[in-house]
Amino acid sequence: MFRHFILLASLFIVSCDEDRKSSAPARWYSQDQVALGATLFSANCAICHGKEAQGSAGDWKKRLDDGSLPPPPLNGSAHAWHHPISMLLQVINEGGASFGGMMPGFSDILQDDDKLAVIAYFQNYWTDEVYYRWELMGGAN
Ligand code: HEC
Repeated sequence: MFRHFILLASLFIVSCDEDRKSSAPARWYSQDQVALGATLFSANCAICHGKEAQGSAGDWKKRLDDGSLPPPPLNGSAHAWHHPISMLLQVINEGGASFGGMMPGFSDILQDDDKLAVIAYFQNYWTDEVYYRWELMGGAN
């Protein structure tokens, strides 16, 4: 009986994995969160990260004259997708001060739901491929 269960469970996992490859992975957020995030992002983040989270003009990997890094794109073309949600929240809360960065912290400025909404907003620019790789690396943690 138990063995049957294991067999069925593994068949199920394999077939879900097959689905994954052929269709888009389900996102953790709703379109309502993306819409809320769009407003909040435009008010709080776009001045540095660009209206569509495309980053500032120029090479985001090249340090500025003061030694700091420019605001990177958050639209999936840089490395925001290497970070799980918990780490994205940490950057949004604390900013870059702890590592000599220029980003201000938003811990007292945005509510927790608002922080998740801005993440939803910029993740919505990620391709399915990038989103899937983010999930594989434990993105939802
Ligand atoms: C004053 C400019 C500025 C503002 C405003 C700003 N950021 Fe940033 N952000 C940066 C910079 C610069 C970095 C690179 C790290 C550093 O130097 O602090 C960064 C890094 C990040 C990262 C890490 C990206 C990665 O690839 O590791 C995330 C996520 C992020 N910002 C999200 C946001 C969100 C969301 C908002 C709005 C709530 C916001 N930022 C507002 C300048 C800004």
